[in-house]
Amino acid sequence: MTPEEFRTAAHDLIDRIADYRAHLEDYPVMSRVEPGSVAAALPASAPETGDRGAGLLDDLDRIVMPGLTHWQHPSFFGFFPANSELSSVLGDLASTGLGVLGLSWEGSPALSEVEQRVVDWTRQLLGLPPAFRGSIQDTASTSTLVALLCARERTTGFGLARGGLQAEPAPLVVYATRHAHSSVQKGALLAGFGLDNIHWVETDESFAMEPAALRRAIAQDRAAGRVPCAVVAVTGTTATTAIDPLEPIGQVARAEGVWLHVDSAMAGSAMILPECRWMWRGIERADSVVVNAHKWLGVAFDCSLYFVKDPQHLERVMGTNPSYLRSERDEDVTNLRDWGIPLGRRFRALKLWFMLRAEGAEALRTRLRRDLDNARWLADQVEAADGWRLVAPVPLQTVCVVHEPPGASPQQVDEHTQRWVRELNRSGVAYVTPSLLEGRWMVRLSVGALGTERAQVERLWAHLQDVVTA
Ligand SMILES: Cc1ncc(COP(=O)(O)O)c(C=O)c1O
Repeated sequence: MTPEEFRTAAHDLIDRIADYRAHLEDYPVMSRVEPGSVAAALPASAPETGDRGAGLLDDLDRIVMPGLTHWQHPSFFGFFPANSELSSVLGDLASTGLGVLGLSWEGSPALSEVEQRVVDWTRQLLGLPPAFRGSIQDTASTSTLVALLCARERTTGFGLARGGLQAEPAPLVVYATRHAHSSVQKGALLAGFGLDNIHWVETDESFAMEPAALRRAIAQDRAAGRVPCAVVAVTGTTATTAIDPLEPIGQVARAEGVWLHVDSAMAGSAMILPECRWMWRGIERADSVVVNAHKWLGVAFDCSLYFVKDPQHLERVMGTNPSYLRSERDEDVTNLRDWGIPLGRRFRALKLWFMLRAEGAEALRTRLRRDLDNARWLADQVEAADGWRLVAPVPLQTVCVVHEPPGASPQQVDEHTQRWVRELNRSGVAYVTPSLLEGRWMVRLSVGALGTERAQVERLWAHLQDVVTA
């Protein structure tokens, strides 16, 4: 494609994206295609001759659009918000359009330096102490894996340079609650700890980690000859946004010499609001923290901010130094390839920068406060309505509910819940996510898409009354 052909097609594409964003509410939120139908609309093999004209974008409309569930829809209440501010979309386009890679500082000095500066801006906005330095990873899953690898190496005194975990005399243990995201277990497994060495710590009635139970678990493991290595505390668990108490967990971690990783993938965004910072009381004790700017905050996926207190340790665990990557400026600069797993580095910082620059912090705070208010309103309706029940506290923007028809057994309530969620999602009016909580089904109503105003939340609540009685 020549630059002139690109210019024409890109203008058309931008028009289509702008129209799409302006008319999101015309679409059913959840895609209605049958499995296999999108693949079947594509030829079985790649075209021999190209088509750089309108056919390309028409295929996007014809084949792709029906197969989309619309995450940016104002009535998307599923999972967690994955907001994609159009300002950050511009940054992403600039990144791929410029087509540079940050294999080293020299590979594109702007890529490294914009990233370090705007990640530090974000650190300040979140109220994270200056002792933390950050970089952009693809996802929280990767950030947590990196954290657990760093924890493993601190505990073993860089066993990776010897026989690795296989040469350790005793198993290393990771601590988290069963409410931690599945990426915590996955990270622990990939880092070689093994399922037997994940110690699930008990939680309290708000589904948050019990610090006393953590202390007991560590003592029990030491007595059994195992080596406590890392605790992953979560600010805003995935099912219910429970808040693990960092202050006492951090005290235990420090006293026991255990790495503290804080998964704030979701709730981290709320730290731009001073009134939410209580959720991070004790954060200064963390060794590493992950905040997904690609969730509620609004940066287009993927932009996971990974902060550490000891960047030298991170570089020692992640660093490689093959001759072809060395440059004469290495002594004077930070090579971000040594701050994570992949060598190749996209210019992701552009989308974070563009969003912060275009929106400004105050507008982000206003939007998040709007969402918190809307979630509170919804929670109030649930609490006041017959047959409905909140199944977890609502510290953030996710409201966890069940509807219990009179006289229904727990099993019948589970069946009822799964039925009405299916019906609601199929209706296209809104989209929500069911989840198991302590073995029973409930529904998460996660408020916070960019376009979600009170009107959409009211419509959701009204529609819920219909689907549960249908
Ligand atoms: C608390 C928490 N941690 C981690 C993740 C994983 O995020 P990612 O998709 O960036 O790996 C999620 C995803 O929703 C989450 O809710």
